[in-house]
Amino acid sequence: MIQIKDKQFVPLIDEQQLLQRIEQLSQIISNDYLDKNPLFIVILNGAFLFAAEVFKRLDIDCEITFTRLASYIKTSSSGKVTMLMELPDNVTGRHVVIVEDIVDTGRTLAEFLPHLQLKKPASICIASLLTKPSALKENINVDYLGFAIEDKFVVGFGLDYDEAGRNLRAIYQLKE
Ligand code: IMP
Ligand code: MG
Repeated sequence: MIQIKDKQFVPLIDEQQLLQRIEQLSQIISNDYLDKNPLFIVILNGAFLFAAEVFKRLDIDCEITFTRLASYIKTSSSGKVTMLMELPDNVTGRHVVIVEDIVDTGRTLAEFLPHLQLKKPASICIASLLTKPSALKENINVDYLGFAIEDKFVVGFGLDYDEAGRNLRAIYQLKE
């Protein structure tokens, strides 16, 4: 068990499981995007670590860029998504893979997708390390998924609790 600020967390997915799944996902993505020179758009901050682990395992031509959205305050979604960083202009005609740390309600991506579509990419897919299927409220389909988890708050591997815990090598779940 670990303590982060006022909360206690227990291990959920260990480092080896995470890296094994990421290895598989990277191979699938490499196959699917062979000769397509995909553009990865990483949703900061949480997805940076997952994105790095996937990206360095791709053995195809590919590019990466970043955007920043925010909808969470401490451990619950505020339901309002703010775009804190403009989208890059080089999206038009590109095969885009959005990289998220976790799809929870799906509101962040439901808000973000129309902005992206305005830039007329050739295609859009979603890669996410985690989903919480029972929390999903929007029609969002994750094409490249690491793990589906139950609807409990998690930290680690890039995900934070009030900005803490992103550096943890495994995923930890809030202790009830
Ligand atoms: P959504 O808009 O509800 O899908 O939430 C997506 C964003 O909320 C993710 O990109 C995360 O940054 C954050 N988030 C959702 N669930 C968790 C969690 O359990 N731990 C940490 N961050 C979370
Ligand atoms: Mg996030």
